Amino acid sequence: MVTFLAAKLVGDADERTITGSLIVEYLHNATLVHDDIVDDSDIRRGLPSIKKIKGNKVAVLYGDYLLANSLQAMLDLRDLEVFDILSLCSRRLAKGELLQAAKARKLDIDEEVYLQMISDKTAALMSASAELGGLTGGGNDEQRTALKDFGENLGMAFQIRDDILDYEGRTGIIGKPVGGDLKEKKITLPLIRALEKSAHGSRNMIIKRIKHREGLKQVVEFVRKSDGIEYSNNKATQYAETAKRKLDVFEESEFKSMLIELTDYVVSRKK
Ligand code: IPE
Ligand code: MG
Ligand code: MG
Repeated sequence: MVTFLAAKLVGDADERTITGSLIVEYLHNATLVHDDIVDDSDIRRGLPSIKKIKGNKVAVLYGDYLLANSLQAMLDLRDLEVFDILSLCSRRLAKGELLQAAKARKLDIDEEVYLQMISDKTAALMSASAELGGLTGGGNDEQRTALKDFGENLGMAFQIRDDILDYEGRTGIIGKPVGGDLKEKKITLPLIRALEKSAHGSRNMIIKRIKHREGLKQVVEFVRKSDGIEYSNNKATQYAETAKRKLDVFEESEFKSMLIELTDYVVSRKK
């Protein structure tokens, strides 16, 4: 959707835009199939994940297969700029996931590293999606940069909200397990903030609980009682505002309105 709307914003969506959106969709799904292995997650979009149905072996291979489909679609465009955008994006996606895994082992993440991590693992994809739209729609350099930055900020807002929903939501509504992040020792912004604001003693106790996967319900309570969720919502809103400001270079149009609406949705969504 982002790729199409971005293309429409600068010109028109054509066959190349369709292929561009296909590439990111394949790439996105490849990373999600692999992500559910990494996160040991049984539900995706309200249904059993591939790894749950077929096991890790098949899920690894199937994720690779989707990635190969993405590469093949990329070749169809015969455009080195497209390769530039997508190879950087793939590299960042993998780098972000690796950083997250490293931090889950050491439990020493802070806000700065968290923001770097989500910018790689999530914002990179939305940025590439928007930039590809700008490219295939025939946008100039200024427009393409604006779209790329729009996507980056949209992605930051999206992931922060996603991490809030892991504390706030319900599985039946968000379509994936709630509290899964803690189970996987993933320390996200609501918890980072809560830890930062708490006394040394309780911080140590919370870290110990996460380390030993004990009393995680109390950890969730600890976050809910702190200002971590409110703080994170504000952060997400800031990124959303920046994203919308990046669209200032474009004249008003129904496509611009839709991108703005999408940005507002990303930070207000309940699922
Ligand atoms: C998934 O990140 C995004 C990818 C880069 C694959 P998360 O692990 O935080 O997202 P969900 O909660 O499983 O969707
Ligand atoms: Mg993950
Ligand atoms: Mg996950």
